[in-house]
Amino acid sequence: MKFDVKKAREDFPILKTELKCGHPLVYFDNSATSQKPLSVVEAVSDFYLRYNSNIHRSAHELSENATRAYENAREKIQSFFKADDSYSTIFTRGATESLNMVAQVWGGSNLKPGDEIILSEAEHHANIVPWQIVSEKTGAKIKVAKIREDGSFDFEHFLSLLGKRVKVVSVAHAYNVLGSVNDVKKIAAAAKECGALVSVDAAQSAPHWLDALSGEIDFLSVSAHKCYGPTGIGVLVGKRELLDSMPPWQGGGDMIENVSWEKTTFRASPARFEAGTPDIAGAIGFGAAVDYMNSIDSEGAKLHENELLARLADALSEIKGLRIFGWAKGKLPIVSFACDGIHQNDISTFLNTQGIAIRSGHHCAEPLMKTLGVSGTCRASLAFYNTAEEVDIFAEKLSRAVKLLS
Ligand code: ALA
Repeated sequence: MKFDVKKAREDFPILKTELKCGHPLVYFDNSATSQKPLSVVEAVSDFYLRYNSNIHRSAHELSENATRAYENAREKIQSFFKADDSYSTIFTRGATESLNMVAQVWGGSNLKPGDEIILSEAEHHANIVPWQIVSEKTGAKIKVAKIREDGSFDFEHFLSLLGKRVKVVSVAHAYNVLGSVNDVKKIAAAAKECGALVSVDAAQSAPHWLDALSGEIDFLSVSAHKCYGPTGIGVLVGKRELLDSMPPWQGGGDMIENVSWEKTTFRASPARFEAGTPDIAGAIGFGAAVDYMNSIDSEGAKLHENELLARLADALSEIKGLRIFGWAKGKLPIVSFACDGIHQNDISTFLNTQGIAIRSGHHCAEPLMKTLGVSGTCRASLAFYNTAEEVDIFAEKLSRAVKLLS
């Protein structure tokens, strides 16, 4: 049965919001953050209205309810990412914090001068800068795996970088600018042959129901807000054994076994890495987002997204002067483009007057912009609740923008 996009849109009240410009909203900025279904908004407000309380600390009914909901969300998320018991799921502020945790805690305590870290050319800053910080501190060196002309990962070049000195490979499952999807299982298998740790940034792939984990992946970083959940919460799914061998990151309440002036001992993961009162409502909201994603016909949604992408690519190929970046097979519905002689911000500003929300700029991927030879791009990023009609409106307005601004 065909995916019922009209029905899916009913779950997202914001899609009917009225804009100052008077045009209906066309929300094509899903890679920056997705919209939230009512069930997620209600799960968060329900926590504050009915059982707001701290977790893991008190014996009263509200605290018991809050603890149960928080831990239940953790279990749902762990199972959504198909992580078995050899993994532990830690709540973080989002993929950025998760990646920083891997770099600072694992990298900071394991990397030595001469060790090598492999990243790829199209990474988001969140998977570059933390490694730069840790390489400054430890003397480890960063090596960069190239991407091909079509925006796909250059696996042969990656293989040529592998060797005994490589201690960690950290790559995106899908690129936020190019939309290409990396075969992270194959990358991980090759990395493991030289004994390297593997970290995967799944921020962009998770909202599209793409499974990343294989037993060879040590760490998976995800943000809830791109997966129809709240902002300010995410997870680091990591190999339990590895996490328990790592030193704590932040000290505080709930992460300790015993504290004394002489010696403090720490709990196992996940508690070890969750110092202080966490974002309880956010975690519960993330759990509700996972429930929501599980309730969607994911195969139908993926097909629908692919149809939207094909329609968008066709329409854009008709507009003279546009350069599209990234056309790898199997890519996500993320399309970045530039138009010679027109600044990307002028295009997005014009589209905003027409009710269309896209992102323009460097998309937190400045090294990639350098490779592409541009200061920035416009990016239309779609989700399963977008429609063919919206794609047509977008293409028509973009064509108008290009004519007006040329
Ligand atoms: N990482 C997000 C993006 O690509 C914010 O827009």
